[in-house]
Amino acid sequence: MKNGKKVLVVLVALMVLFSAAAMAAPKTWTVGFSQIGTESEWRTADTQSVTSAIGDDPTLVLIYSDAQQKQENQIKAIRTFIARKVNVILFTALVETGYGPVLQEAAKAKIPVIMIDRDVQKADRALRLTIMGSDFVKEGEKAGTWLADYLKKQGMDDGSKPINIVELQGTTGSAPAIDRKTGFANIMKQHANWQITRSQTGNFTTSEGKAVMEAFLKADKTIQVLYAHNDGMALGAIQAIKEAGLKPGKDIIVIGVDSVKGAFQAIVDGEMNCTVECNPLLGPQAVQAINDLRAGKKLPAKIDTIEGVFDATNAAAALPTRQY
Ligand code: AHR
Repeated sequence: MKNGKKVLVVLVALMVLFSAAAMAAPKTWTVGFSQIGTESEWRTADTQSVTSAIGDDPTLVLIYSDAQQKQENQIKAIRTFIARKVNVILFTALVETGYGPVLQEAAKAKIPVIMIDRDVQKADRALRLTIMGSDFVKEGEKAGTWLADYLKKQGMDDGSKPINIVELQGTTGSAPAIDRKTGFANIMKQHANWQITRSQTGNFTTSEGKAVMEAFLKADKTIQVLYAHNDGMALGAIQAIKEAGLKPGKDIIVIGVDSVKGAFQAIVDGEMNCTVECNPLLGPQAVQAINDLRAGKKLPAKIDTIEGVFDATNAAAALPTRQY
């Protein structure tokens, strides 16, 4: 073959190769992610997990929006995502209600919505594709079941005397606050002598958890158990208990949810009794779901995370490997 012809053959071969590679390479997708804010250590870990998993995928482009705990900011962000014609929306709902109209707009624009962590109310669930995250009712049940076992083992509850429990609720109207309350109440039904003597929101923040617990302690000297809807509030409450001259973990049993490192440390230090795990590391699952969607696969209606319960029997062993 003459030199000129050889060059031409090589060029054509390269062109075929490049166009095949271009066809095989997945098309870039733009992902809009509406996060609720930065209220807790858990939330920081969650945001970091999702944004870095998307950032690590060269075929995904992220538009991130932090709502700063305001529902109207989330609605605006979703409208912006629709206007920018994103391929998919990741959405953590601050509260369950009030998103129907904007979800209808996304559905009309044929943009799939994947809920991350917190869902919307039942009536609006047909407007989103799937939810990935924890079962918050189960978490509340795990907290209640742990308490029943603990009281029994300590010989503190023979069913005849009241067990006085105070509750620090999460953000009012949010899925984890509603469901963790429901789950705990499910277990309370089996213990007629358990009573929630005080219950108030601490908005999932350490500072509000502390302030509300201070008020509880001033008004009530009979508190035996604190059930906090997250560890951040439990850790704030532990401070309040100490400042009131009491021993958290001993004078008052402290139960939280999330299993953040601070809770593990508090258990190891004997100041907290139990933390129910709620896994925030949803990034890899989110990217998997987006890629499955792009490949035309059908997503399951619910994508669960696997979680445990930690107390003095297993917290010290697990602490060194905790990622959040
Ligand atoms: O939605 C999950 C909850 O939100 C976590 O338990 C809490 O810490 C966070 O702020």
